[in-house]
Amino acid sequence: MLSINPFSQLAASIPVSFLQFFVILMVLLIIIGTGLDMLHKKNVVYFFRNAQKAKKSAKTELSAGKKTAVILKTVASDIATTSELGFGKRRLAHVLGMYGTILFWITSVILIFKYSDGVVAPSYIPIIWHVGAIMTCLGGYWFWFFLRVDVSAEAHPWYRIITADLFVLALLACATFGLAWSFTQTAEMSVLSYLFLILFIISNLVLFGGVYWSKFAHMFYKPGAAIQKNLAEADGSRDNLPPPADAPEQFGLGIKREQPKHY
Ligand code: HEM
Repeated sequence: MLSINPFSQLAASIPVSFLQFFVILMVLLIIIGTGLDMLHKKNVVYFFRNAQKAKKSAKTELSAGKKTAVILKTVASDIATTSELGFGKRRLAHVLGMYGTILFWITSVILIFKYSDGVVAPSYIPIIWHVGAIMTCLGGYWFWFFLRVDVSAEAHPWYRIITADLFVLALLACATFGLAWSFTQTAEMSVLSYLFLILFIISNLVLFGGVYWSKFAHMFYKPGAAIQKNLAEADGSRDNLPPPADAPEQFGLGIKREQPKHY
């Protein structure tokens, strides 16, 4: 199953142009959803205003080379390894899910645009597609069942669903139904494969159609905010925050307390 391109089998019953149109529609939904979100929250306007304001209190003018170095370091650490999440399970789960999703999306586009009209895909591409979906499931379900703040610290049951869960649930539905569809299609379980295909399509429509309401756009905002934060630290403006205290970092014994888990 892992080395079989599920889209080429589908292309036997659906025109390839329809699959390609679906992918383009999903990209348009991301652009529209993120654009509307930015208009509604005015977060990008705030972000640039704040950056302009901070620039005025910069202590040094960064050269182009220094700026590039700060940006490259941010990409390699803050963005590529989501260092904001510290060391631990939360970061590992996020990195698993993030790279899984990126692999799943990139190989979906390659398989649909290059290898769905009779050209057989080299087996490593469908393998990466399946591995990407599995990684998304591992990271996502780990986060959903054990790491979500309202489950791990606020003692809510894992099955309590709120609007903020739209993104992670739709993402998990896409990866899970994608895998189930591929498996049942290869195993020639036609009724089940048809059912999982419909669920796969619906979950993609919810994931990409729900960008405006979900946390989807954090994958664009977070990198921008990390770059601005690190540039502001390098030029000394510190986003207009006060300088660090000239005193040892003593937080008292409270910092060593247990995680809140006594319910
Ligand atoms: C394809 C790219 C990405 C995917 C698929 C992804 C996926 C996710 C998911 C599923 C969540 C959980 C959402 C929730 O709270 O319900 C999440 C949270 C988060 N993401 Fe991402 N993300 C991506 C990119 C990024 C990037 C580039 C950054 C930072 C530079 C980032 C930082 C975060 C942070 C800080 C959280 C909160 C985590 C927590 O509460 O444990 N993400 N992401």
